[in-house]
Amino acid sequence: MHAETGKVRKQTEAAGPGVERRALLAAGAVLAAGLGAGVQALAHGGHDGSAQQHPAAPPPDPAPLFHGPRQAGVTTPPQAATQLLAFDLAPATTAGGRDALRGLLADLTRLLAAATAGTSPDLRLQGAEPARLTSLVGVGPDLAARLGLNVPTALADLPAFAGDRLDPARGGGDVLLQLCGADRWTLTVVAELATTAARAAGATPRWTQSGFLPATAPGSTARNLFGFKDGTANPDEPTARQWVWGPAGAHENGTVLVYRRIRMDVAAFAALPADRRDLAIGRRAGDGAPLTGSAEHDEPDVYAKNPDGSYVIPATAHVRLSSPRLDGGARMLRRGYSYDDGPDDRGLLFCAFMRDSAQFTRVQTRLATRDALNPFVQHQASAVAYVLPGAPEGATLGEQLWG
Ligand code: HEM
Repeated sequence: MHAETGKVRKQTEAAGPGVERRALLAAGAVLAAGLGAGVQALAHGGHDGSAQQHPAAPPPDPAPLFHGPRQAGVTTPPQAATQLLAFDLAPATTAGGRDALRGLLADLTRLLAAATAGTSPDLRLQGAEPARLTSLVGVGPDLAARLGLNVPTALADLPAFAGDRLDPARGGGDVLLQLCGADRWTLTVVAELATTAARAAGATPRWTQSGFLPATAPGSTARNLFGFKDGTANPDEPTARQWVWGPAGAHENGTVLVYRRIRMDVAAFAALPADRRDLAIGRRAGDGAPLTGSAEHDEPDVYAKNPDGSYVIPATAHVRLSSPRLDGGARMLRRGYSYDDGPDDRGLLFCAFMRDSAQFTRVQTRLATRDALNPFVQHQASAVAYVLPGAPEGATLGEQLWG
């Protein structure tokens, strides 16, 4: 995918920096939106395998940009490592709380912009290899209500779901920061600098969680710890404009993050016969194709039936219950990571972006009672945050909040 972004950068250089930035962001958004096979075909020469006959070295990956209409922590495809951090702001008067938040967002903007550009004065961030840092900053529903912030009206905590075993100390929070990058080192250092800035603004760390993904070829989908490709069915840019990003106006380039820390019983799931595992998901682990298709990016056909009248994708299969076809076409942008906090505590950091968290609620309400994965998963933490629109060059994150 980055190869294609590089191509866009080259094509737009002559048109000046503004055009280049817009084209890159548009490319990034489309790529992040998971066009997967289509994008790969564009980047690697089409469906006919012609690229293999005329191999060309892909152009070098352009570095992610901090400044832009949307935060790069949403628009960049998942990276090797992630670190999520949440902070609580000290109770204060509305005016005092707003000042503290404004100061913190200004500090985070400066710090993250420098760390992303590789210009941080911190020696520990001056590595030989580019860290490809991306980030997103969001505010929680509680803080938004306390300070009367201009956030989407529907921003709210999630309801309780059947089977939830949530630990409040691992979820929630007033300010949420997600860092992603090529290596853990950079994330640890930037997390430390962000925590120092948060403390200086009177905020206290609430929870932090790290995660990772397997190394995958550009444009291919990473697997989760159950061994399945995870992140295949994501929206393209026009669909994302409708379901992921806010409506025209102040929130147009903002979105809502739903985070769930989901513990997975990897050993018990692995003990199922392979066909049972495929039936539980509704896709084949090997190539990621739906049980009704032959390629990973084929749309699952939730209406297809076997000769005996049963559904090909079973009634309790994960991709049936989470299908946009049961939900008026609504699609969230999933950008999950795995975590490993000890032999009995591994799982998925479910991170999904959507215009309105009610979308998650509808899907999770179906999954919580019927998903074939339920005997193997447990939701242990939850957070919702309004992910701020990006900060264009010279601007500060969160300028929309004060209106
Ligand atoms: C540990 C828990 C979970 C695992 C292992 C898991 C795994 C998967 C896999 C393997 C797929 C198929 C490939 C893909 O399209 O990415 C998938 C699809 C999907 N999952 Fe999950 N998932 C989990 C939790 C959730 C939760 C909590 C939600 C939302 C409430 C969710 C929503 C979706 C959606 C919307 C799709 C795409 C459906 C489609 O458009 O075909 N998943 N998941």
